[in-house]
Amino acid sequence: MTASSQKRTVLISGASAGIGRACALMLAQRGNTVLAMGRRMDALQSLASEAPAGSIEILAGDLNDASYLDRIDADFARSDVFINNAGVLRYAPLMDLSDDDIAWMFQTNVLAAVRLTRRVARHMVARQQGHIVFMSSIAAREVYRLASGYCATKHALSAFARSFRLELQSFGVKVTEVAPGMVDTNIREGSDHPAVIAAMQARRFSPLTSEEVAGAAVYALEATPNLCPDLIELRPLGSV
Ligand SMILES: NC(=O)c1ccc[n+]([C@@H]2O[C@H](COP(=O)([O-])OP(=O)(O)OC[C@H]3O[C@@H](n4cnc5c(N)ncnc54)[C@H](OP(=O)(O)O)[C@@H]3O)[C@@H](O)[C@H]2O)c1
Repeated sequence: MTASSQKRTVLISGASAGIGRACALMLAQRGNTVLAMGRRMDALQSLASEAPAGSIEILAGDLNDASYLDRIDADFARSDVFINNAGVLRYAPLMDLSDDDIAWMFQTNVLAAVRLTRRVARHMVARQQGHIVFMSSIAAREVYRLASGYCATKHALSAFARSFRLELQSFGVKVTEVAPGMVDTNIREGSDHPAVIAAMQARRFSPLTSEEVAGAAVYALEATPNLCPDLIELRPLGSV
């Protein structure tokens, strides 16, 4: 049996919006059961209403709340796949980012992501199978003006992803890093520094769609058992 013909239980963090939402819909439409995480219950309910009936189970909560993770541990245990996708971003010149901005990005993009991955991976290791997809970024390998804090979090997340891969592969668990360039989501909404707005207006390429990124995650998840897509970088045409 190839991976593509299996119907699996897929846990997705940040499924209430953007890339995570597109992954959730695509995987639900392909017959999988999706455990959808995010803080906004209304957005998760809207996702569930668009997906095939019964394909989305809502697990609403804040990734930085330890009691939330304790409450859903049984759901971690039944997850065949985990898409580690939730993330936040604030662009600004480094000297204008607050300490709180930097801590907020590290809390969610790195610390919460790693805490969650360790909890899910324990169950996969016990079962000797599983697949974890890290949604990193082109910013995991490059740095940009105005994006220092975010780039640092994605470099850190990528280092964890590569370390997880080394340690988990002998337990039959695959780890894939999907690293997109700019995607047309609302993640930059809180970045209203004039230098950021000017840089966005000067951009000469069209961002990727969330569906294009979700397609890459699905490709990795549907790879045949011996094929491990380690890193998939995705760039909009004309962005380099
Ligand atoms: N958009 C891009 O250009 C781009 C490019 C490369 C990589 N990425 C990465 O792709 C991932 C998804 O980004 P996106 O663009 O789709 O962003 P988005 O549209 O802003 O969605 C972010 C998701 O993360 C969830 N989230 C944030 N903080 C959370 C918390 N404390 N607890 C629980 N959930 C939380 C949000 O859910 P709630 O608000 O409901 O909690 C939302 O579902 C991120 O890791 C991002 O860094 C994005």
